[in-house]
Amino acid sequence: MLKEEKGAGIAPGSLAPQHFLPRLRGKFGRHYRYLGVVSSTQDVLREWAGAAPGAVVAAEQQTCGRGRLGRRWESPPGNLYFSVLLTTEVDSLLPLRAGVALREAACVGKLKWPNDLLAPDGRKLAGILIERCGERVLLGVGINVEVAPFPTAAALSEFREVHRAQLLADFLWALEEWLAEKPELVLTTWKEANATLGKPLRVRVGEKVVEGVGVDIGPRGELLLRTSDGVCAVHAGEIETVNPG
Ligand code: BTN
Repeated sequence: MLKEEKGAGIAPGSLAPQHFLPRLRGKFGRHYRYLGVVSSTQDVLREWAGAAPGAVVAAEQQTCGRGRLGRRWESPPGNLYFSVLLTTEVDSLLPLRAGVALREAACVGKLKWPNDLLAPDGRKLAGILIERCGERVLLGVGINVEVAPFPTAAALSEFREVHRAQLLADFLWALEEWLAEKPELVLTTWKEANATLGKPLRVRVGEKVVEGVGVDIGPRGELLLRTSDGVCAVHAGEIETVNPG
């Protein structure tokens, strides 16, 4: 642990600009805001006038962290919370591109469609929230580094030593690369890392629940589910594995 981090009451791998910026390899993250307690890094980024694509907001804690599908994202101190500004030039594979980048940076786990990072035992390590705001896309990532904040969550530090500033820099570099990658390679890499296909699944799309087996990912990143009525494409929703028996 660096001297400055001792006694500061924050997790190892200070995200302060002087520790984070020298670790960057690409363009993302060069415009950087590092804060203590915020409502949500998504909100801070949205309100950052003049933020350029690739700008990043990171915080130590969030009081109103948001998850996918209107859920809350528990954001105690010790973990990693950040948002990256992208332009709307991104394609429909963005959720999968971001998921592949997350796994590459974390070096642990498997992907649950569309982009949850799960520990080898299936507990949740990290999640990604993508929000559109006019011409801009806000990509928010929460990684449980030191603290598993709910019973089905895991902390990345259970599996490897983590330096948060390095993890953030590694993710941004991986994201930049995966955003430029050919769709075929994104799909193949996502499928190699997946924990979803071939399993009996229950999918909640709004009020509707559909059961079937995940058979493939379509060209636009949709989950293809074989149900008793044939194959159906799921573009958004929450999936859970159905335990046979
Ligand atoms: C999910 O799995 O439901 C997505 C979780 C995304 C959480 C991150 S933490 C940083 C950013 N700010 C938020 O309010 N949410 C995202």
